[in-house]
This record gives sequence, structure tokens and C-alpha cells, in this order.
Amino acid sequence: MAYTENVFCIGLFILVLYVTGVLIVNSQRALITTMPDKLQALSGSCVQIPCAFEIPTIHSNDFNKSTNISGVWLKGATTFGTTPEIKIFNSSKTDSKFQGQIIGNLFQKNCTTVFYNVKNSYTDKYFFRIDANGPYRATDTYKQIEIFVQDVPPIPTMTDSVEVKEGTLVSLNCSAVAPCPEHPPNLTWTFPTKSTPEDHLQENPDQTKSVVSMVTFTSSYLHNEKNITCTAVYPVGTSYKTAEINRTLNVLFSPKDTSASISPSVPVSVGSCVNLTCSSTANPPVTNYTWFRISEGKPTQVSFRQNYTLNVIVEDGGLYYCEAVNDVGLGNSSEVLLAIKAQDKPVSPLVYGIVGGISVIMLIVILIAFFGWKRKSRFPDQHERTDNPLEQNPSVYNNQGMVKSKPEEQAEDQSEEIHYGEIIFSKQRPKETPAVAKDRDQVQESEYSEVKVTRR
Ligand SMILES: *[C@@H]1O[C@H](CO)[C@@H](O)[C@H](O)[C@H]1NC(C)=O
Ligand SMILES: *[C@@H]1O[C@H](CO)[C@@H](O)[C@H](O)[C@H]1NC(C)=O
Ligand SMILES: *[C@@H]1O[C@H](CO)[C@@H](O)[C@H](O)[C@H]1NC(C)=O
Ligand SMILES: *[C@@H]1O[C@H](CO)[C@@H](O)[C@H](O)[C@H]1NC(C)=O
Ligand SMILES: *[C@@H]1O[C@H](CO)[C@@H](O)[C@H](O)[C@H]1NC(C)=O
Ligand SMILES: *[C@@H]1O[C@H](CO)[C@@H](O)[C@H](O)[C@H]1NC(C)=O
Ligand SMILES: *[C@@H]1O[C@H](CO)[C@@H](O)[C@H](O)[C@H]1NC(C)=O
Repeated sequence: MAYTENVFCIGLFILVLYVTGVLIVNSQRALITTMPDKLQALSGSCVQIPCAFEIPTIHSNDFNKSTNISGVWLKGATTFGTTPEIKIFNSSKTDSKFQGQIIGNLFQKNCTTVFYNVKNSYTDKYFFRIDANGPYRATDTYKQIEIFVQDVPPIPTMTDSVEVKEGTLVSLNCSAVAPCPEHPPNLTWTFPTKSTPEDHLQENPDQTKSVVSMVTFTSSYLHNEKNITCTAVYPVGTSYKTAEINRTLNVLFSPKDTSASISPSVPVSVGSCVNLTCSSTANPPVTNYTWFRISEGKPTQVSFRQNYTLNVIVEDGGLYYCEAVNDVGLGNSSEVLLAIKAQDKPVSPLVYGIVGGISVIMLIVILIAFFGWKRKSRFPDQHERTDNPLEQNPSVYNNQGMVKSKPEEQAEDQSEEIHYGEIIFSKQRPKETPAVAKDRDQVQESEYSEVKVTRR
């Protein structure tokens, strides 16, 4: 208990000391300026120093009475009494060492100052002083601003592009300091080109200015590992100085361009070694490969390796494809054919069967055609007809009559048709003969009408 009380008392004591110290210091400070601790400037350009000041109440009357106020900048020290050369700017004088202007309204306690055409030698710390042409004159010796003048502009900053999944909207901000807001840098993006960046001058917490440009685009797997560059172009006098920043995009995407290859790609003979290789691009890399063989129209898993090596048997022939999987998704290849060279032993019985069957059929067809031709060539012979028995004559004469009344080409067809009818006639004859053999005239009649029907 005593310990905690002691700690509390000591803490309180320190706090009281601190507050007292601050009060003493501030009461000693006849001028309290507010400005950034540090500022970067580009040689040849201008630099704007955001500045505001406060005057303790005991001095306010004096300040308020004044009608003419000078703002003075001291370089490197405050002892201008002994070293007057440190007094590099007096707003009431036109022949100051530094070209500049207090653009803030001093009566409104705004000491914002612009120095033009800054040089590398301007790199130093600076103090501000108010000279109110009367009883009130004060330098804030407690507050200084450090100005760094450089020949090259500072590198812009870009928001860290975290890993993005393909298809998501990505926004990137590029920010470049504008030490000279009168001539702010122009920001350009090398990628993506389709965006419509809108630059705007924005005020930072310390009152300095920056130009911010934002691009938005839908990420694609094609953007992965692409550099996105933001370039800040600073106008300096009549020329330009540039600074740029690069970011490499990391787009996570499912396997793309998945392809299956087969080696060797020519038909292989049974027993030989065949390699099936699956390739794909993916981010993160592919974790699982699966090989499928299409059998009976359905894919069947046959391997879980990127390279599938097999000693070919007859059943291995067919279409294959592979599938690549990563954390984001999967991608399938198109199909490749594992072709197997035709072999004599296993294939010959079937081939022989087919060839033999075709041969037999052809032989039969040829025989039929041959006999058909023989008959055909026998009947058109006039002598045979005239020699034929009377019973066949009626039909033959009738045919001749029909043939003569038609063109020759058709006559040939007719004779063929008629010939077909003759074959049927001859076939039917044995059946009819026993039934109708008694009366020959009747038989002739029926035969005649039958031939007529066949001709149509
Ligand atoms: C001085 O003038 C400011 C406004 O210009 C006012 O706020 C302030 O109170 C004045 N101080 C005194 C001591 O009159
Ligand atoms: C600034 O210039 C004014 C006008 O010449 C002068 O009255 C004042 O004393 C100068 N201030 C300093 C600190 O030299
Ligand atoms: C001081 O003056 C500058 C220039 O006119 C202005 O941009 C800035 O906003 C002013 N600061 C304050 C605190 O009013
Ligand atoms: C980019 O800038 C815009 C406007 O300045 C802001 O609204 C947005 O939050 C910023 N985005 C990132 C990622 O910083
Ligand atoms: C992308 O930027 C890196 C450095 O940021 C660089 O090493 C690489 O060469 C750049 N790549 C391309 C394609 O510009
Ligand atoms: C198949 O791959 C193995 C090793 O993976 C190799 O030794 C063999 O030569 C390859 N065969 C062919 C036909 O590419
Ligand atoms: C990938 O393979 C691993 C083992 O090798 C297994 O645990 C995992 O389930 C597989 N993932 C997919 C998506 O098949």
C-alpha cells in the first residue's frame, strides 16, 4: 500500500513539475509558432512553409496595437544581433537574401511563407520572428523547421497492394509530396491504362500538401507479377524532374492454360512406355494434378501425379485429360489421344472375318450379276423369240409394241423391267402349272395380265 502511494505521489510530483515547466517555458516564449519539423524541397522549385503563431496574452495588447508587422526568418541560429547575415528574409524589405513571400495574413497569425527558386545551400534549420514595429518583437527560439533541398524529387508512395484474388476490384493510391503547391507534380500511371485517375491536392496533418492519384481496376490473372508504376513529374523552371514507384501485383488465380501432352505423340505399340504430362499456370502453385481417362463416355481417375507414366496395354488406348487444382480453384486441359499402333495377332481374326465376309458377299453379287447378264443377253435375241413356243409370244409381242412407241433409253429400262417380270414368271410357273394346267388358254390369259402389272 505504502509503495503504491509513494509511486502515485512521485508520479503526481513529476506531472506537476512537467506542467510547471511547460507553463514557465510558454510564459517565457513571447512567440509560439506551429510548423512542420521537417520539409523536403526540390532545388530550382519553390517551397511553401505552413506556419501559424500564437502570442501569449501578456503580449497580445502590444501586438494588437501594432499597425505594421514584419515576419522575419532566421537561418541556422537566432543570434542575429551578432551575426546579421542569418537574417535571410524580412517581409517588410524587398532586398531580402531569400526570394520569398509571406502568403499568410500576419494579423490573423498566419505566417505561411513561400521561398522561390530554392538552392541546395538553403538546406538548414529556420526560426521565425515577429517584428511589430513597437514594443512587441519576439523570436520563437524553441521551434525550428528543418528544410532539406534535394536535386531529385522524393519517391512517391503507393498503397501496399495486398494479395488480391482474380476478379476483385483493386484500388491503388499514389501519393507525391508537393513542397511547392503552386507547381504540384503530375502523376501518371503506366498500368493499368484503362483507369481514369483523378489527381487532387490534399493537405497532410502537418499542413504540407501532397498530390494523390487513385486507380481502380478489376484484377485479372494476366495482371499477376506485372509492375504497376506511378510516376510523379515535377515542373522545375522550364523543365521537369521525375520520380517513380513500382509495385508488383500479386493476383491469386485458379489454374489457367492447363494442357495435357503425350510423349511420344505418335501411335505407340503395346508394351512401350508413354508419358502424359500436365502443365498449368496458377497462383498459388498447383497443389494437385489428376489424370482422367475417358472410358465408355465417362472420365475415370487414373493418376494423381503431374507426370503419368504407363507401360501401354491395349486397353490404355483412348482419350485422356488432366485437372489442376490450387487453393483458388481448378482448371481442366483439353483431351489428348493415346493412340495404339495396330498389331497383327490380336486384330487379324476380326479383320479377316470382315474381309472374308465382304469377299463372299461381293462374289455372290458378281455371280448374280453375271447370271443376270447372261439371261438378259439371251432374251433380246429375236431368233430365240421367234423360235420360242407360242405360249410366250403374246407377252413378247406386247413388250415389243410398247418399246417401239418409246425413246430408246427408256426402251432399255423397259426391257430390263420386263426381263425381271420374266424371271418371276418363270419362278411362278411351276406353282401355277399344276393348278391351272388343264386349260392352256386360261393360263395364257393370267400370265399376260401379270406381266402388265409388273411393267408398271
Ligand atoms: C487581440 O486581437 C485578437 C483578435 O484580433 C483578439 O482575439 C484578442 O483577444 C486581442 N487581445 C487583446 C489582449 O486585446
Ligand atoms: C524588417 O524590416 C523592417 C522594415 O525595414 C524593419 O523595421 C525591421 O526592423 C526589420 N526587422 C528585422 C528583424 O530586421
Ligand atoms: C494560412 O494561409 C495560407 C495561405 O493563404 C492558407 O493556405 C492556410 O490555410 C492558412 N492557414 C490557416 C490556419 O488559416
Ligand atoms: C485512396 O484515396 C482515396 C481518396 O483520397 C481514399 O478515399 C481511399 O481510402 C484511399 N485508398 C487507400 C487504399 O488508401
Ligand atoms: C518490375 O519491378 C522490379 C523492381 O521493382 C524490377 O526488378 C523488374 O525488372 C520489373 N519488371 C518489369 C517487367 O518491368
Ligand atoms: C518418360 O519419363 C521418364 C522419366 O520421367 C523418362 O525416363 C522416359 O524417357 C520418358 N519417356 C518418354 C517416351 O518420354
Ligand atoms: C490434394 O492432395 C492432398 C494429398 O495429396 C489431399 O489431402 C487433398 O485433399 C487433395 N485436394 C484436392 C482438392 O483434391
